[in-house]
Amino acid sequence: MTTLPGAEWWRTAVIYQIYPRSFADLTGDGIGDLPGITAHLDDLVDLGVDAIWLSPFYRSPQKDAGYDVADYCDVDPLFGSLRDFDDMLAEAHRRGIRVIVDLVPNHSSDQHEWFQQALAAAPGSPERARYMFRDGKGAGGELPPNNWDSVFGGPAWTRIVEADGEPGQWYLHLFDTSQPDFDWTNPEVQGEFRRILRFWLDRGVDGFRVDVAHGLVKAEGLPDYAHPGHEVDAMGGQHGEVPFWGQEGVHEIYRDWHRLLAEYAGDRALCAEAWLPTVAQTALWVRPDEMHQAFNFNYLETGWDAAQLRAVIDESLAAYAAVGAPSTWVLSNHDVVRHASRLALTAENPQGHGIGPDSPGKPIPEVGLRRARAATTLMLALPGSAYLYQGEELGLPEVIDIPGEARQDPTWFRTDGERYGRDGCRVPIPWTADAPAYGFSATGESWLPQPAEWAALARDAQTADPASTLSLYRMLLSARRGRGLGAGAVEWLESAPGVLALRNATVTVFANLGEVPIRRPEGVVLIASGPLDGDFVPVDTTIWLVND
Ligand code: BGC
Repeated sequence: MTTLPGAEWWRTAVIYQIYPRSFADLTGDGIGDLPGITAHLDDLVDLGVDAIWLSPFYRSPQKDAGYDVADYCDVDPLFGSLRDFDDMLAEAHRRGIRVIVDLVPNHSSDQHEWFQQALAAAPGSPERARYMFRDGKGAGGELPPNNWDSVFGGPAWTRIVEADGEPGQWYLHLFDTSQPDFDWTNPEVQGEFRRILRFWLDRGVDGFRVDVAHGLVKAEGLPDYAHPGHEVDAMGGQHGEVPFWGQEGVHEIYRDWHRLLAEYAGDRALCAEAWLPTVAQTALWVRPDEMHQAFNFNYLETGWDAAQLRAVIDESLAAYAAVGAPSTWVLSNHDVVRHASRLALTAENPQGHGIGPDSPGKPIPEVGLRRARAATTLMLALPGSAYLYQGEELGLPEVIDIPGEARQDPTWFRTDGERYGRDGCRVPIPWTADAPAYGFSATGESWLPQPAEWAALARDAQTADPASTLSLYRMLLSARRGRGLGAGAVEWLESAPGVLALRNATVTVFANLGEVPIRRPEGVVLIASGPLDGDFVPVDTTIWLVND
C-alpha cells in the first residue's frame, strides 16, 4: 500500500542496523547468518523497532566484510541462500518489520565477473570502460594517474599486469585494492544497477541504504586533489572541494532511481550514506525527486556539548524541512567508534581510525555508558527517523584490546597498524550470559574475540532488569511510538548553560550535559537515562517528563 505524501513510514521510522556477520550465527562457523536474523526477529519486535537495515550479505570474498561485492544478486554461502533471505523477509514482514538492504554501487569486488573480464581485455575496450582504468604518468606509465589517496590509507590506484605480462594500466579504488570503482558515466553500469534494484524490489525489500552515495561520480579529468594541508578524512566529509566526493552528477543517478522505486507500491525508500561537510549539503541528497533519507553524520560527529548539539539539531531540522524530507538521527554504526565509548574519548579520533591499546585519550567506560544512555534518550525524542546499531541497546562499548593478529579491517593492514580501524565496533553481540560465545554461536566460534566483561551485558542478563540499557531502549521506543514523537516538532525551552530542554508533543526532554546536578522542571518523570537525585538531574543524564 502506498500512503499519502507526508505519512510514509520512513519519515518517522526507527531503523535497526543489523551487521549480519556479528548478529547471530546459526551454523556455528563463527560468522552470523540470515537464519540467525530470522531466529531473533521476535527480540526486535520486543525492542520496538520499525525496520531493519542489513549490511551486505551478497557473494563476496569478504575483503571489506562484504562491502566488496562479487555478485549483487546472490547471497554469500557464509550467510545462507536466497531462500533464507526470502524466509527472513517474509518473517520480518509478518511481524510488521520493514527490511532495507545495502546497495554498494561505487565499487565492486575485484572478483566480480566484470572486473575479471576487464583485466583480461585490452586497454580501451568496453570491458575496461565499466571501471576507472587509466594510463599512468611518467615515461613508462609507472606513476599513478593522479595523487588521490584511498579512504583506507595508501594510494587509490593499483597498476595491473596486462595479458602480455607487462605492467600496464592503473585502476582507481577509493577503498581497498580489492574494490575497483565503477565508471558511472557508462550507461552499461547505470543499466546494471537498475537491474539490481529491480531484483531486490521484486523480492519485496522496502528500500536500500546506498553505500558511499556521495562518491559515484568523479570530477571531469580526475584532477589532483589539492590537500588542504593534511590527508583526506576517512570518508571525505570535512573539506570543501574534493574531486571524488559530492560531485553534481550523482544527483541525476538518484533521480533515476527515485523514478524506478516509485513504480513499486509500498513507499520503497533510498537512504544515502553521504559524508559531507555540512547538513545543508547533505540535504541536497534528499530533495523531493532524489533519495528519501540521508544519514545525519553531522549529528553523529557532534561531541557531547549542549550548545553544539542544539545547533546541529536546529540546523538539521531546518535544512531537511527546506527540502521536504525528515531529518534522521544516528549515533553508532559499523564504521565508527561505538557511542558508549566515543562520547567519553578525551583525544581527537578521526572517523575510521578506531581505538586500540595505544590510542591516546581512551574513554572511562562508566562515563561513556552514562553519556551514551543520555545521548540516546535525547536522540529518540527528536522528530524524524532514527537509526540504531545492533548492540547499542545493550550499551556495548567499543572493544579496544583486540589483538593485532585478530584484526580484520583493511584499514589496519593498509596503514601498517597505524589506524586500528573499525573492528572494535563489529564484535559479535552477546545474547546469553553463560553460553559459548554468549549465545552468538552454539559452537563458541566468533570471527572477532568477545571480551570477558560482555557476559554482564548479554541480552538475557538485561531483560528483566528495569535499570538496564535494554530496558531503557524498550521504554524509549515504546513511548516514542505511543506519543507520536517521530511526527512531532521541537520547541526549545529556556534552560541553564550546559542543559538542553525541549518539548516534543506531550514530552518535555531535559538533558544535563553540564558539570553540576540541575533541578528538574515540573512534571512526572516518564523515563530517566540514569538514577536521579531527588528533584535533581545528575550530570550526563537525560529525562523525559510528562504532565498528563
Ligand atoms: C561502508 C564501509 C565500507 C565502505 C566501502 C562504507 O561507507 O559503510 O563499511 O568499508 O563504504 O564500501
